[in-house]
Amino acid sequence: MNWWLRRAESRTAVAPSLLAVDFAELRHDIASLEALGADLLHLDVMDGHFVPNISFGPFICKAIKRASSVFLDAHLMISHPHDYVDAFVRSGVDALTIHVEADTDVGRTLEQIDRAGLKTGVSLNPGTPLAEIASYLPDIDLVLVMSVQPGFGGQNFDPAALAKIEQLAEMRRRQNHRFAISVDGGIDDTTAPGCLQAGADILVSGTYLCRAADRAAAMATLR
Ligand code: DX5
Ligand code: ZN
Repeated sequence: MNWWLRRAESRTAVAPSLLAVDFAELRHDIASLEALGADLLHLDVMDGHFVPNISFGPFICKAIKRASSVFLDAHLMISHPHDYVDAFVRSGVDALTIHVEADTDVGRTLEQIDRAGLKTGVSLNPGTPLAEIASYLPDIDLVLVMSVQPGFGGQNFDPAALAKIEQLAEMRRRQNHRFAISVDGGIDDTTAPGCLQAGADILVSGTYLCRAADRAAAMATLR
């Protein structure tokens, strides 16, 4: 049983994606989300290569670390995560989630992350079959199921993610794995219930939660 699952036993874990906040108000927004009970913060790192968009890297993660007190999961949408593990470790984040589609030796990069003492996560794009990540499941802490094509916030949820979440939950049960299941992209009041029903432990939410006029109500609805 890992940290996420322990939390998820009592309630739905919600991970705000900071991509949707006003970065000029970062400290204020982090405080507001933490006060509402955000269980962890989801940091979307984009390199303009693995995905068409560029967001931020270890430098900003380090600033976020200074302004926050909850668990930080960096979602690395970058082609060569192995080259940046050390920099992200130094930034102070708690988990590194890499993409199985990245141009990297996924197993070795996960070992690198694990050896540094961080939690390990693997993410897969909507078009990537679960078989691609099967061999990593016994050893990792988190699977991040993408329900949109990574690169931008504010996209529509792809319901194909639901079958993947169900199958992952079933595999975890049968094989007694410890990974938490997180879902990322287009999570809102209409799509969250299906994800939870399917077996997700953590809901990543950017636009719906962070841009809500009433964040407290949006958080309560997600839970
Ligand atoms: C997409 C990112 C997501 C995104 C989620 O590339 O990985 O984390 O910020 O944002 P919403 O909730 O707006 O889909
Ligand atoms: Zn993300």
